[in-house]
Amino acid sequence: MSLLETARAVRENAHVPYSRFKVGAAIRTTSGKVYAGCNVENVAYPQSTCAEAGAIAAMVAGGDTQIAEVFVIADSPAPVPPCGGCRQKLSEFAGGDVAVTMATTDGKTLTMTMDQLLPGAFNASHMAKA
Ligand code: THU
Repeated sequence: MSLLETARAVRENAHVPYSRFKVGAAIRTTSGKVYAGCNVENVAYPQSTCAEAGAIAAMVAGGDTQIAEVFVIADSPAPVPPCGGCRQKLSEFAGGDVAVTMATTDGKTLTMTMDQLLPGAFNASHMAKA
């Protein structure tokens, strides 16, 4: 399955009783494996998790840590970018040149690199003196 198909399929499983906004995410790692995640909301709203966070958790649980490509899909007028927190979460495992493709369910896409999505990212090099 392509990243698009994986993200589209897992999006159907999103648990979104509060926002009604389903998001699907798929990650391909440098090992060639694909991991999927959807948003999982909670009645205590801040405990909700984004689709990207779910895909990252599945990836790490699967023994992978090197992201090669990311795909995110939602039913939106324009491609939905990862939230700020998810940009930081992705940057833990994705280099600046990794492509993140955002898509709408009706076929619009926008691809940006991690460096474009999170310029000046805080990373481990900033703690070199710690
Ligand atoms: N959401 C994601 O899962 N990923 C994104 O990239 C944007 C937002 C979710 C969080 C919440 O469940 C719903 O979309 C509305 O914000």
